[in-house]
Amino acid sequence: MLLPGVMPLQASPPNTNTSPAQTTIPYVPTRHDAVRDLLWLADIGTNDVVYDLGSGDGRVVIAAVRDFHARKAVGIEINPQFIRESRENAAQAGVAGRVEFIQGDLFTNDFSQASVVVLYLGHGANLDLRAQLVRTLKPGTRIVSHQFGMGEWPADKLLDVRTILLGMYGEMYNEFRINPDVPEFDSTGSRASHDVLSAWMVPAPVAGVWRGKVRLESEEGELKFTLHQRLSGVTGSFQFQGPTNLEGHVQADLWGDHLRCWCISTNRSSYFSQMWFEGHAIDDTLNGSLWVPQGNETREIKWAGRRDRADFTGTWEWAGPMDSPVQLKIERRDGRLTATYVDKNRTVPDYMGGNKPIPATDFYDFGGGFYFTLLLGLEGSSMTGGSRRVSPEDGWLIGEGIAISNTLTGTIAFYPYNRRFMNEPIVPDPKSRTNAPGSQPDKRVVVQEGRRDWLPKRVAP
Ligand SMILES: C[S@@+](CC[C@H](N)C(=O)[O-])C[C@H]1O[C@@H](n2cnc3c(N)ncnc32)[C@H](O)[C@@H]1O
Repeated sequence: MLLPGVMPLQASPPNTNTSPAQTTIPYVPTRHDAVRDLLWLADIGTNDVVYDLGSGDGRVVIAAVRDFHARKAVGIEINPQFIRESRENAAQAGVAGRVEFIQGDLFTNDFSQASVVVLYLGHGANLDLRAQLVRTLKPGTRIVSHQFGMGEWPADKLLDVRTILLGMYGEMYNEFRINPDVPEFDSTGSRASHDVLSAWMVPAPVAGVWRGKVRLESEEGELKFTLHQRLSGVTGSFQFQGPTNLEGHVQADLWGDHLRCWCISTNRSSYFSQMWFEGHAIDDTLNGSLWVPQGNETREIKWAGRRDRADFTGTWEWAGPMDSPVQLKIERRDGRLTATYVDKNRTVPDYMGGNKPIPATDFYDFGGGFYFTLLLGLEGSSMTGGSRRVSPEDGWLIGEGIAISNTLTGTIAFYPYNRRFMNEPIVPDPKSRTNAPGSQPDKRVVVQEGRRDWLPKRVAP
């Protein structure tokens, strides 16, 4: 028996050599009360076009138009039997004219017209999809997911609904778990007894350097924001260059294309050292207002910024996880940017495919900057005893950078799979690198973990 919300849905790891479409995602319907919560979390209105990717019996699609008055709802479902069932269910619910069911693969069908996307797939499938979601959906589109997250992309909203499972499932391990009157009552419960519903908003690309003229009191000058972007997360700095110079960092919030930047001055304090910007980022223009505290009031000054042109294509080199040079080659292919990682010193035996360039798992073009995730260590096979990750340099490499003039500046982080390597004494001998199955490095190695500044050099255009 499948217990809704309890069965782990299996999916492949992200972007392995198997096509995402081959991912096995079983049918487990969302309970009707969770459908309602999910659609509520998506904040559906009468103008919304809702897509359920993997729509099963059509319950989410039908509820979106029948109960939440969405303008239109579309289900994409691979199983033709479910498509037939969904159409019958929609006719019975009296909403056949406002819904559409497409029989096909959710990984290859177009859903760019959606203003809300609903997912109940699997963690791996969400990761397979997320770059496409961010690239093809309009900024501000809401994505809601039943049970599964989006890796390191934190949800904007999270609804954790404790569900009390009656019968044997509730009592299997601890008969007091559902009794709030005894100390053994599990107030958080195991994850299996929870519906976790998450929502994200597709972020506008805001990375880069934005500039615009402004008059602050009697001072005319240029205000500049330098913004780094990691999906919905934005950090950066500001600078006002006028007769006096004001600078500091910004604390930013981004919802779709709506950006707010609090300016926190680090070099001087004045009434405009506590100002903030609030507005919208559309293409290369930032339009909105600066709010400048003045006495007991806050003054509004209209402000527009333009983003500097940035080109980050080329081959960039830096000292990699093992402190020897590695490269990221960023190129434009079929109109969009892709990245490939090259580590000439990486030792991968031929029977494991040899040392080849590794494509970035995800690459996000955020206008004046980019964000990427890269899974190192997919070369292996079952020959390595089930683990495909055997070397200390296997793990996730995650970076973000913005292009300023001819340089890249940002942060990069490496998270090794095997933390054991991290705790071993340091012997800085790059020759010790090995990736042979089942073997350990001959000598112990340095692996730098965690986020650090990234200033790669362009070594080829
Ligand atoms: C966990 S069920 C969710 C059903 C429905 N969204 C709900 O919440 O009740 C996942 C659904 O995705 C469908 N599915 C799996 N792989 C698919 C694919 N590649 N393309 C389209 N649908 C797929 C399955 O047939 C199944 O109906």
